[in-house]
Amino acid sequence: MTSQPNLAAYEALINEPNLALAMAIASGAGKLLLDRPDDLGVTTKSTATDVVTLMDQRAEAFIVAELGTHRPDDAILGEEGANKTGTSGFQWVIDPIDGTVNYLHKVPHWCVSIGLMEENTGLAMAGVVYVPVLDHMYISSRGLGAWVVDGGQPRELKVSNCADLSQALMGTGFGYSSTRRASQARVLQEVLPKIADIRRLGSCAVDLCLVADGVLDGYYERGVNAWDHAAGELIAREAGALSSGLFGNPIGNDMIVVANPAIHGDLVAILEANQADRD
Ligand code: IPD
Ligand code: CA
Repeated sequence: MTSQPNLAAYEALINEPNLALAMAIASGAGKLLLDRPDDLGVTTKSTATDVVTLMDQRAEAFIVAELGTHRPDDAILGEEGANKTGTSGFQWVIDPIDGTVNYLHKVPHWCVSIGLMEENTGLAMAGVVYVPVLDHMYISSRGLGAWVVDGGQPRELKVSNCADLSQALMGTGFGYSSTRRASQARVLQEVLPKIADIRRLGSCAVDLCLVADGVLDGYYERGVNAWDHAAGELIAREAGALSSGLFGNPIGNDMIVVANPAIHGDLVAILEANQADRD
């Protein structure tokens, strides 16, 4: 028997003004992105496999314009170049399409990710990860829990209770440079025999939400940027996940490890033993 959702907690969450704004903007960006032009205007960034489409740029412009209208004093950092300083002490960290390669190839796992950070503490305050093709809206606000609105139905998120790393289904991702990929393959060779299996779904933000939902038991990746994890990491922690880097470091570009509390330590230990935070 499934328990009744705590709708009062859900109402409190979606009435938080920053989160409500981020949800409305993510939904608008998702609508824009679903209306794909025939020519996506693909160009490349850091390497030949690091693609960007006209739609990444259009969605970022839309999000930046909306935030500029509703939160003119806040800073903005975006994957496609948005970099605005603010005066309020808050910064929106946005990825207009996390999973651009999936978007290009019509694999459904891509999303709009919008996070709000407090600049002087670096704490995440609110996060939205919207997967338009599936109509899954993952949401959280600091201290108010994490939910997914799945086809209009709200459901509270909770990490898995898998306590045995050898039974864990793990997410990870790979960077765009061949040197980075070679070192990620070296680490994976050590991790894979010690877990149940690995998924490379193609979006850091979606992976983090799947950890929050107990679909994946954990996720790790070297080389992700603030816009990839700003929203999803908060959602995962509010659903009960532990989150860290390696060797006592905080999460960052070197490494992010997010997993249910029963396996987080074991996963960190394997990654540390293989120096997974360096190439
Ligand atoms: C990428 C995705 C991918 C991860 C890469 C990211 P992008 O972001 O999150 O899953 O493995 O490290 O760069 O390029 O699709 O926005
Ligand atoms: Ca990204």
